[in-house]
Amino acid sequence: MVEPFAGGGIISLTALFENLVTSAVMVELDDDIGAVWQSVVGGQTKWLARRILEFDLTKDSVIKELSRKDVDVKEKAFQTILKNRTFHGGILAEGSGFLKHGENGKGIRSRWYPATLARRFSDLSMIADRICFRQEDGLDVIREYSHLKNAVFFIDPPYTAGGKKAGNRLYRHFSLDHDRLFALCEGIKGDFLMTYDNADEVKIMARRHGFQMRLIPMNNTHHATMEELVVGNDLSWMDRYPAVHEPKVEYTTKSKKRKVPTSGSTLIANPRRPRIR
Ligand SMILES: C[S@@+](CC[C@H](N)C(=O)[O-])C[C@H]1O[C@@H](n2cnc3c(N)ncnc32)[C@H](O)[C@@H]1O
Repeated sequence: MVEPFAGGGIISLTALFENLVTSAVMVELDDDIGAVWQSVVGGQTKWLARRILEFDLTKDSVIKELSRKDVDVKEKAFQTILKNRTFHGGILAEGSGFLKHGENGKGIRSRWYPATLARRFSDLSMIADRICFRQEDGLDVIREYSHLKNAVFFIDPPYTAGGKKAGNRLYRHFSLDHDRLFALCEGIKGDFLMTYDNADEVKIMARRHGFQMRLIPMNNTHHATMEELVVGNDLSWMDRYPAVHEPKVEYTTKSKKRKVPTSGSTLIANPRRPRIR
């Protein structure tokens, strides 16, 4: 499988641990995240596990550790893990700050579970040799693998409804040519699954490129229920899950914006691929 916007790479890792795929190409532009995956594939999982277990986490110790600039890749990976666990929302982008109250008012230590984290890193040694990590532009890597019929892609691009400003707060690399991404997906000979925020402009692009869509309910970090948009070539297999549904076509009137449900067939992004239910 290919995960061109890997971040924490949960889908690649799950697919590898569950033996759903033989190998995974994980791509990520961010330097800090890249250091983590480079260390994992470079055989440093046990070192990272030990570093996590031995670190005495206080606000002062984190500040001191993060102020070290001339560090090697594995130490940079450790710094990334520290930031992810102690910064608000785990956000690494500029402007992010330390957790103030955290979970149960435990402040900076509230998301620091050293034993669990260490075990997770140590477990990664079981699959590390099946990961190919590349710190490159995910779009180029999609193009490189798109001709392979036996390659599957999980695509979770940086996108936040609300445009650049919102995306900017979450990721250092937030700007992406989404139209080009959709065009590249059309060229994929294997299969792909793409996830986005449920935004009108995304649905318009998906329809224009002839893809199907489904909405999946999920809880965000504030425990509010929202819907994640899934885009793909043929998503009829998802219809056996009752909570999953197709997005409604939206019409905008001058006075107000309202959702108008239309009849079955017009809801389908690609009429050539009828919905099976
Ligand atoms: C929505 S997140 C992916 C989250 C991921 N699914 C996970 O499990 O954590 C998007 C990621 O794409 C990265 N990114 C942004 N532009 C990129 C590009 N052109 N090529 C590769 N990665 C990119 C961002 O740094 C960010 O980590």
